[in-house]
Amino acid sequence: MLSTPATRGLRTSSTTSALKNGVRSMATVQDAPPVQRQRGLQDQDRIFQNLYGHHGADLKSAKKYGDWYKTKEMILKGHEWLISEIKASGLRGRGGAGFPSGMKWSFMNFKDWDKDTKPRYLVVNADEGEPGTCKDREIMRKDPHKLIEGCLVAGRAMNCTAAYIYIRGEFYHEATVLQRAIQEAYKDGLIGKNACGSGYDFDVFLHRGMGAYVCGEETSLIESLEGKPGKPRLKPPFPAAVGLFGCPSTVANVETIAVAPTIIRRGGNWFNSFGRERNSGTKLFCISGHVNNPCTVEEEMSIPLKELIEKHAGGVTGGWDNLKAIIPGGSSTPILPKSICDEQLMDFDALKDSQSGLGTAAVIVMDQSTDVVRAIARLSKFYHHESCGQCTPCREGSKWTEQIMHRFEQGRAREREIDMMQELTKQVEGHTICALGEAFAWPIQGLIRHFRPELEARIQATAKKSGGEMLAGGWQHDAGKHGMLISPGQ
Ligand SMILES: Cc1cc2nc3c(=O)[nH]c(=O)nc-3n(C[C@H](O)[C@H](O)[C@H](O)COP(=O)(O)O)c2cc1C
Ligand code: SF4
Repeated sequence: MLSTPATRGLRTSSTTSALKNGVRSMATVQDAPPVQRQRGLQDQDRIFQNLYGHHGADLKSAKKYGDWYKTKEMILKGHEWLISEIKASGLRGRGGAGFPSGMKWSFMNFKDWDKDTKPRYLVVNADEGEPGTCKDREIMRKDPHKLIEGCLVAGRAMNCTAAYIYIRGEFYHEATVLQRAIQEAYKDGLIGKNACGSGYDFDVFLHRGMGAYVCGEETSLIESLEGKPGKPRLKPPFPAAVGLFGCPSTVANVETIAVAPTIIRRGGNWFNSFGRERNSGTKLFCISGHVNNPCTVEEEMSIPLKELIEKHAGGVTGGWDNLKAIIPGGSSTPILPKSICDEQLMDFDALKDSQSGLGTAAVIVMDQSTDVVRAIARLSKFYHHESCGQCTPCREGSKWTEQIMHRFEQGRAREREIDMMQELTKQVEGHTICALGEAFAWPIQGLIRHFRPELEARIQATAKKSGGEMLAGGWQHDAGKHGMLISPGQ
């Protein structure tokens, strides 16, 4: 651990953990005793000290709050040490999949990597397209130097020659702030030739995307960065072998990269002391929907969902008992009903145990006034619109699910179509090039799992109103009599 202006005088990792209290719970529901929390995350434990813009995003302010402190010493320690600290921290990717970052970064330093003369790239994923997610933009507009310093530190760990930050096109303001910060860092000798006086050359480029959700998928992002249509590539080869411009590359999320310098400065064990085993660290949570104070906040991993909402978002509108459901990790993660939310911990493994996911930690809260069928139908429309069309299960499946969800919303369906829909989404899962297939299948599966009675009641009510059960495809039972085209046999 390197002492920094921000860390001097802090308590050590063993006392900063809010979850220690003697035992740390294992990361499965079965094993987990009730989490013993001594206290919430303290302000000095927060990595993103400027999340609410209390000081400037400029280099001078960033340095005052601890950024760029002893960066030269950090990078001179070499790639093996840097990667071992990231491994010790237990950091898992903040882009959604939660893959261990230390392991992922180590894939870049494969056998004889130094004999390969090709350039090597760190690609920062600043596309942030997942509905409900609004954390990376906060980092870029308030704490851009954390990201740029992170590019240098993570880039050094992977022996990269340059970093490309691929930013979502709509983030005009964020791109402006970030570009200004990159220029400041160049001017101060922090990046570029002989970065920080370390003898290591490292460039940082900013590239604006054009606003397609699928361009957030890592290989699609690489294609787009190369100037081609953003269509995901088949893997293998993985980007660490053949990435950007055919060179070894790693794609990592903004938050993952931005936390790296603080982890290295304070030590991997410090970061690892927060949260449950295998789910360590602090995390940005974006809370939106039916809460009194929607916000993005840095909290300890594994915080109970209820505590997160009540402490930081001012509670659910009308109180906790007015809660109907929550989408816990961005729109592609399955919805959870209140009964599960009551006890839910917010980490990768606990949410997986609840058949959902932490994803991007974008918490979408829905109170009793919400039409959950309509909400999920709207997401189906989004995913259909964003499918790149390469794989049949996604291209066709996202269209069918959008159409069927639209009928479900109006009750124009037959009850057995609920099982058909479940089967359809299961056929898509795992059968597509990229995870957009799962992204549109999972929310529907969550709806069927937890809100089936609501779907059935709606279908029954429509059947009653129109004098009989709907025919396949949502035709009214007497559509034939009215001269409407229906399928053979009906
Ligand atoms: C359809 C789709 C969209 C994605 N969008 C994003 C995104 O906007 N930002 C992001 O960081 N990761 C996104 N991902 C995940 C990336 O493919 C990749 O896993 C991530 O950037 C890796 O970073 P990490 O290791 O830091 O988590 C998306 C994945 C899919 C399948
Ligand atoms: S799953 Fe969908 S978005 Fe992904 S590659 Fe296939 S068609 Fe394109």
